[in-house]
Amino acid sequence: MTERSPVDPDATLEERDFESALRPKLLDEFEGQPRVRDQLALVLDAARHRGSSPDHVLLSGPPGLGKTTLAMIIANELGVNLRITSGPAIQHAGDLAAILSGLDEHEVLFIDEIHRLSKPAEEMLYLAMEDFRVDVIVGKGPGATAIPIDLPQFTLVGATTRAGLLPGPLRDRFGFTAQLDFYTDEALTGIVAASASKLAVDLAAEAAREIASRSRGTPRIANRLLRRVRDFGQVKGHPHLHRDVARAALELYEVDERGLDRLDRSVLDSLVRKFGGGPVGLSTLALSVGEEVDTVSEVAEPFLIREGLMMRTPRGRVATPAAYLHLGLAVPADRSDSLFDL
Ligand SMILES: Nc1ncnc2c1ncn2[C@@H]1O[C@H](COP(=O)(O)OP(=O)(O)OP(=O)(O)O)[C@@H](O)[C@H]1O
Ligand SMILES: [Mg+2]
Repeated sequence: MTERSPVDPDATLEERDFESALRPKLLDEFEGQPRVRDQLALVLDAARHRGSSPDHVLLSGPPGLGKTTLAMIIANELGVNLRITSGPAIQHAGDLAAILSGLDEHEVLFIDEIHRLSKPAEEMLYLAMEDFRVDVIVGKGPGATAIPIDLPQFTLVGATTRAGLLPGPLRDRFGFTAQLDFYTDEALTGIVAASASKLAVDLAAEAAREIASRSRGTPRIANRLLRRVRDFGQVKGHPHLHRDVARAALELYEVDERGLDRLDRSVLDSLVRKFGGGPVGLSTLALSVGEEVDTVSEVAEPFLIREGLMMRTPRGRVATPAAYLHLGLAVPADRSDSLFDL
């Protein structure tokens, strides 16, 4: 297995323990995403006033932005239990019926990767969300009968990285939908500082900013880079982590000032140097850097596009003038103005 890049947005199993130690427990401790936080606070307050369960909540956004964290915060703020499952874990509608009928009044059920629920489970969920009821089918064929089972009032929190894949009828049954965006450097700096204090790491404010600015707008990556910087400081004998220690550590792990890792840079480098800035097809580009097409299209490309370093055109991938500058190269004259003709 190749080693995971420090900027891979997906969490490894080993990382989960570390993450749970750093998770904020209350809405007030959740940094960034001010609009989502304010709206959610209102939803929770209103429910508390009514003494009932809040509306079902859908959290969507790229990996590592805080969906699981928010689900835990919701249950915690309501002072109720959180039951956790995921779309792929529910194979049959019967599995879902068992989970739903086992809920206690007002509990929060978290379904991660809700876009991956099977069709029968999804249809069962419609009725459960709307009427707090499931129909369990007993028997097969013409003799089959539906036995209605009443459920306690509960709140469903669904999370998805692919909101676009969610069927409309399911999406419509959520009373509150929150779309998480990439974080500002300022919010990430706050997250890194809070994590450092939870880990009892002596981190300078400048070092926190340095880590934040290389974290691709993603708290999970920020926490991971912090951990690498801490390890580096420990091994090299720097108990106080100032900015230069952070820079040296991040350089060692090949995460550059803009948050690009080795893969991102080699894709960009290949695009510019081997293919004259493009356009070039994705599979050719992946082959030229010795990577799987999926790795390039799912890990490197979205970030490079978001950073304005690469563009996707009908004829293939193209380097923007900013890509040349990032690689320390002069922008060729024919590049600066011809891009938009592609
Ligand atoms: N707003 C935030 N403030 C502080 N820490 C955060 C925030 N958002 C996320 N984190 C931290 O980032 C890490 C990843 O967050 P989380 O697991 O909630 O992401 P996710 O959106 O569920 O990702 P995935 O799609 O991979 O399941 C956790 O350690 C969490 O503590
Ligand atoms: Mg999650």
